[in-house]
Amino acid sequence: MYFKLNIEAGNDALKFRSESGLVKFFLEGENLEKLVDDFFASFNFPQNSLQRKTFLDKKCNELTYFSPFGEPSVIFLNKVKVDKDFSADYFRNVFAGLISDLKHKKINSLNIIVPSFSHFPGHFESDEYMIQTIIEGIHLGNYSFDKFKSDKNKNQDLKIVIHYSNRELTKNVIDKTNKIMNSVYFTRDLVNEPANNLTPEEFARKTKSELSKAGLKVNIMNKKELQKRKMNAILSVGGASVHDPLMMVISYKPKNAKKKIALVGKGVTYDSGGLSIKPTSSMMEMKADMAGGAAVVGILKAAAMLNLPVELTGIVPCVENMVNGSSYKPGDVIVSSSGKTIEVKDTDAEGRIILADALHYASQQKPDEIIDFATLTGAVVVALGEIIAGLFTKNDELADRIINSGNKTFERVWRMPFFQDYNSMIKSEIADVANLGPRWGGAITAGKFLENFVDEKIPWAHLDIAGPAIKHKCNNYTEKYDTGFPIRMMVDYLLNT
Ligand code: BES
Ligand code: MG
Ligand code: ZN
Repeated sequence: MYFKLNIEAGNDALKFRSESGLVKFFLEGENLEKLVDDFFASFNFPQNSLQRKTFLDKKCNELTYFSPFGEPSVIFLNKVKVDKDFSADYFRNVFAGLISDLKHKKINSLNIIVPSFSHFPGHFESDEYMIQTIIEGIHLGNYSFDKFKSDKNKNQDLKIVIHYSNRELTKNVIDKTNKIMNSVYFTRDLVNEPANNLTPEEFARKTKSELSKAGLKVNIMNKKELQKRKMNAILSVGGASVHDPLMMVISYKPKNAKKKIALVGKGVTYDSGGLSIKPTSSMMEMKADMAGGAAVVGILKAAAMLNLPVELTGIVPCVENMVNGSSYKPGDVIVSSSGKTIEVKDTDAEGRIILADALHYASQQKPDEIIDFATLTGAVVVALGEIIAGLFTKNDELADRIINSGNKTFERVWRMPFFQDYNSMIKSEIADVANLGPRWGGAITAGKFLENFVDEKIPWAHLDIAGPAIKHKCNNYTEKYDTGFPIRMMVDYLLNT
């Protein structure tokens, strides 16, 4: 289940009801005893001496305090240490954990007392952003994908009141964050949807229906249209599925645009590997091989909801990589829409092939920059682990802006080497480029393959999100369901463009 959330900005007066909760943070350090006592005294709440002692103990970081008779019914006390281990993800993680725990408690409202911004020097860009991380955590912890479970609880209402000295600021940040997280939810729903439901056609239908509500134009190029445009790369990879390939082109054109950016996302709704077939264990996660495309959809939705002043074109080639009599084969040569030819050495390196046509199309739109997102290689996960995306670009300025937004939002990226030398590793004897390099450096050669299809005059960055977009152990909000990475990061990026 998830809560139907109603988040509002409170004033200073705390109002309690039964079945309500209260969240309070204390900074580790001097005066803790007095601060805790004053806090309980301030609303006449009886303090239990054993629990007081437990919370004051050095090793204790948090305490859940149930009231036998007073109100609120439950108090969540947190002790914060702002030391070298403190990270800007602290509140996001705490609230994601808390909200998901609340699903098992009988609570229908929650007061949150935001600690003073001055306690966290250097960790948050502003108090506004600090509060944003709290609200993000709430939504992230609230997310669930249980539509296929017969035995689930009914969704309940939960009112959350955020108490901070600046009420107007709090109201604005609630509104902004709700919009961002609404887009993250939409993307997560798309990525988590099993591939038997989310075919290319269904991906496009859901996108069009949701995004047109936000005022966006979604153009769906069907198989015929792809044939007319000689997009043989997409057609070859999608040729063995009963579900036809297609390409979505989403446009967002605000009046006050300063810049035009093309966002390209890999939309493989299922990656069986094709004839170079994967083992079952590797197939399990491959319903999420359209996470890059779903991220593009979510970023466009957020941009429209927030009225961001950048023109955006979202380009999402969608295919199902399957096996039948018309499968593309190792040894085939594909003439892509750019005219460049591709020797197929492995049909499981399919993402880069469909992106060839999509990146060429993006270049033809003559944007100021191109950024692509793809669950492209297992190799990037070997290199960086599951929590960070690989960033590949020759453009330092573009890299810095992406890295900054990543660090700020905790949707982090790491810049990988992208030297010319790697190009020789994907040379083909019979075509312009091969879709497979040697065993080592597989994430980099994949990126180098893509480079062939981007107009070299246009600044371009490639993000390999195979790790962080798919569920993984890291935070309270990444473990259960595919994550919606990197929408929060890209919204920040676009706000600073
Ligand atoms: N979709 C996969 C990459 C992937 C792996 C994404 C694990 C998420 C988690 C991609 O299409 C693929 O199969 N890549 C191959 C490339 C190889 C054939 C060069 C891989 O990583 O093994
Ligand atoms: Mg593959
Ligand atoms: Zn794939």
